[in-house]
Order: sequence, then structure tokens, then C-alpha cells
Amino acid sequence: MNVATALRQGTKLLEDGGIAAPKLTAEVLLSHALQKERVYLFTHPECELERIAWIHFGRYLHERLKGKPTQYITKKQEFYGRDFRVTPAVLIPRPETELVVEEALRFVEPGARVVDVGTGSGAIAVTIALESEARVMGCDLSRDALEIARGNQTKLGANVSWFQGDLLGAARQGSLDLIASNPPYVPLGDKEGLQREVRDFEPELALYGGPEGHEIYARLFEQAAIVLKPGGRIVVELGWRSLEAVQQIASTNGFIETSVRDDLAGIPRVLVARVPESR
Ligand SMILES: C[S@@+](CC[C@H](N)C(=O)[O-])C[C@H]1O[C@@H](n2cnc3c(N)ncnc32)[C@H](O)[C@@H]1O
Repeated sequence: MNVATALRQGTKLLEDGGIAAPKLTAEVLLSHALQKERVYLFTHPECELERIAWIHFGRYLHERLKGKPTQYITKKQEFYGRDFRVTPAVLIPRPETELVVEEALRFVEPGARVVDVGTGSGAIAVTIALESEARVMGCDLSRDALEIARGNQTKLGANVSWFQGDLLGAARQGSLDLIASNPPYVPLGDKEGLQREVRDFEPELALYGGPEGHEIYARLFEQAAIVLKPGGRIVVELGWRSLEAVQQIASTNGFIETSVRDDLAGIPRVLVARVPESR
């Protein structure tokens, strides 16, 4: 069995199994099985597969057909131009979350104290640390997620400190310049409608925000109003129906200068709000 044939057969299997982007997926899984870059598949189509690579490729195809996301098979996802290790202990970072980083970077000055709440793989915290001179911390309720985040920090050479806890419970009053967060925001009632890749494989703690989805923002903003310095900002990712509720929560907790950024699909995706200079 050579590379070209394996690729053709893998693509057909995925296509018949109703998997989206079957050719690209087969390419990613085959290059992972071969431990080569994707370009190798096109420069070495006649190359015979070793038995071990063939066995790995077969297993990966089987896992993908059962719904496991490709990123959990290859254990990586690119975010802001860097490869992050991901396992089923963490959410797979999404491209729209890069907007949270972009917005946060507009406001962080050298030495600013920044926290990423619900850090998961550490994508937001590690990226802000690498793209700025801020002093960055990341927190999560999940110990397993923090282990992955710490691994990514080490691999990518970022300087981030981590703590396990419930939202900002461990932060000191008036100690932070900026809070960035992509909290769990899927309404519990939407569970059955989710793609099986998400519903059956990504961690529930990373997905569901409560019956309406936006409940966690109420606690987050309440705590943020206390732990941010005067003039400090919070940057949060929004669920697709949560803008109004989160704007209301922000204003109830005394935040001002709210701005919203849409994603490429035109959905309000990131909200930035500021604590007044004097309270
Ligand atoms: C939507 S995921 C975001 C992960 C990562 N920041 C990203 O954008 O890819 C939400 C994260 O919040 C964490 N989480 C959920 N509830 C939490 C809580 N009460 N306190 C701290 N972290 C929490 C989950 O474990 C999960 O890692």
C-alpha cells in the first residue's frame, strides 16, 4: 500500500461515513500516522507505508468515523499561529477566540496584570503572554486542563502563572488591569442540537453555562467589578444569543464604555467593558 492509495482509500471511507472535508481530514490523519508534514504526501505518493503507519492510520480513521474530532486524534490545534496541544480535557480553541486576544492586546501595557479565566489549553493566556509584556495568569476549575495549559506554556516558552479555582475567587480586590475570558456559554437545552464532535467529545465543564447559557457571566462580572483596578477592563467571548443579557449584566455591575466586536459571520462575538476610574 503506497501513500497515494492509502490517501484515496481513507478519503473514500470518511466520505462514505459522512465526515466533513474528507480529503483534508484523510491528509491530516495520514501525515500524522507517518509523522511527516502534509506536503510529504504529495512529494512521495509512491512511497510504501510501513506496517505500523498503516495500523495507526486505520485507527485514526476509525476514531474519526466514530466522531472524535481530528484535533483530539492529532492532539494539536493552531491558535494565533502557534500549535497548542489539546486533549479531551480541554476545549479545542476556536478561530473566533483569537478576537478575544486581539481585543485584549489593544489594552495591555507592559507590566499590566492580566488573568485568563477558564484557560483550558491556555490558548488565550499563553498568546497574550507571548504577544505582550504583560504579567499573565491563567485559571481554571479543571486540574487536568491546567496541566495541559502548563505544558503549552513550557513548549511555547511563555511566562504565565496558573491557579486552580472557581472563576476569580482567588484574585485580590483591585489587583488586575485586565480580565480575558471565553467562559462556557452553551445553553444546557442546546445540548442535543450540538454536533456530536462537540457534544460527545469536548468537556462538559467547558461547554455549558447554565440553562440559558449566560448565567456564568453574572458571577464573572460581579467578581470582576471587585478585582479589577479602577479603569481596568474585561474582555469576554459571547455566545451567539447572549449579547443583550451580557450587556445588561455588565451595566448592572457598574461597567462602562461597552464595545462589541463581530466575528467573520457577523455574530457579536467579543464584548469589552471598563470599570470607571473612580467608583
Ligand atoms: C469555553 S472553555 C475555554 C477554554 C479556552 N480559554 C479557549 O478559549 O479555548 C471554558 C473553560 O472554563 C473552565 N471553567 C468552567 N467553569 C469554570 C469556573 N467556574 N471557574 C473557572 N474555570 C471554569 C472550563 O474548565 C474550560 O476550560
